[in-house]
Amino acid sequence: MELRRALTLFDAFAIGLGAIIGAGIFVVTGVAANMAGPALLLSLVIGAVVSAFTAMSFAELAMRIPKEGGGYEFAHQLVSPFGGFVSGWMWLMSNVLSGTAVAIGFASYLAVFIPLPVNIVAAAACLGVMAVNLWGVKESTTINDLLVVFKVGVLMVFVAIGVMLVHPENFVPFAPNGYWGVMQGAAIIFFAYSGFGRIAMVSEEVIDPKRTVPKAIFLALATSTIIYMLVAGVSVGMIGYQGLAGSASPLSTAASLESPLLSKFVGIAAIAATLSVLLTTLLGMSRLSFAMSRNGDLPKALTKLHPRTRTPVVAIVLFGGLMAIFCLFSNILFAAALSNFGSLLYYALVNASAIKMPRPSYPRVIPVLGLVSCLALMLFLGLDAWLFGALGLVVVVVLFISRNRWISPAK
Ligand code: ALA
Repeated sequence: MELRRALTLFDAFAIGLGAIIGAGIFVVTGVAANMAGPALLLSLVIGAVVSAFTAMSFAELAMRIPKEGGGYEFAHQLVSPFGGFVSGWMWLMSNVLSGTAVAIGFASYLAVFIPLPVNIVAAAACLGVMAVNLWGVKESTTINDLLVVFKVGVLMVFVAIGVMLVHPENFVPFAPNGYWGVMQGAAIIFFAYSGFGRIAMVSEEVIDPKRTVPKAIFLALATSTIIYMLVAGVSVGMIGYQGLAGSASPLSTAASLESPLLSKFVGIAAIAATLSVLLTTLLGMSRLSFAMSRNGDLPKALTKLHPRTRTPVVAIVLFGGLMAIFCLFSNILFAAALSNFGSLLYYALVNASAIKMPRPSYPRVIPVLGLVSCLALMLFLGLDAWLFGALGLVVVVVLFISRNRWISPAK
């Protein structure tokens, strides 16, 4: 039985925006503003440039290898089975953690309306998106399309109203913590961009994937970069970087300068945004583990499709459950930083795959710049992200060496 090929360019573009715009801009902006000051705008540009190099590699690879599993499949075929294994596991680690961070972001914004324990609500949200994913890919993406239109619409209203409340003096001093602060800000706000490669993950479910997937990746990254620059510029201008840094829901805080009503709307958009990221995070994780187990890198049970909905049911339940458990014990910042460690390593391997691709259509300097910039940005992540990230890497190497004992040998 095969996956259902049902996704149009709009669905694919919306999966991209669904995966990208979420807890990063709505929550992590505050932390990045604390590090970079108003130069948060510069941190966002750096994050966008690193993402753009990698997006080019993704687009090119997706044209050649339009298979479920995205970057994992590229590294498996072009770097080595070991490179693919590390890439797949780093992506899974990164996404369990980003799902965790995003679910906690969702629960924090919801707590503004309904005071409930954040960690428990976050875990319940993971179980909720698990149910939607089990329902079917077209159903999941239709819900995602609606959430995306709503969150982008509210952010545009926020920018349109907020721009009239900007005070130029809030941009001075521009970089209170110097270049180091700007780079640290870039390393953490990179979280806001991660997800642009998600579209490649579902290539076998996209109609005409060789054209649609690259187009959707560029459209999603360009759109979110423009939205981030506008939203960050307006919110720093409204309440200054200290105002953003001191808040767990920075955009709502900025919006409250205008009116409590706008603040509530922004809060509801944050809830929709984080839900759509969570939905597509689980969609991606279940598809990646499907691809990995098809290649013998995870147990065969994960390829099992539901006979009616044709969704990878075991994978969805496993990763939905894992995220829910992590939500009970984690906090948003640690989860976001560690998630960035995993995703930057995964993106570095995507660029390495593009470097090894025969007869590339882009100059080879692009994936080289992509590889170097991903590794360079990792250097500015905190010590705890490095410690736990390195530990995760050791576990993955041990799993690779011993994999024939716990899964069937690779094809
Ligand atoms: N880019 C995603 C977000 O910001 C992970 O929520």
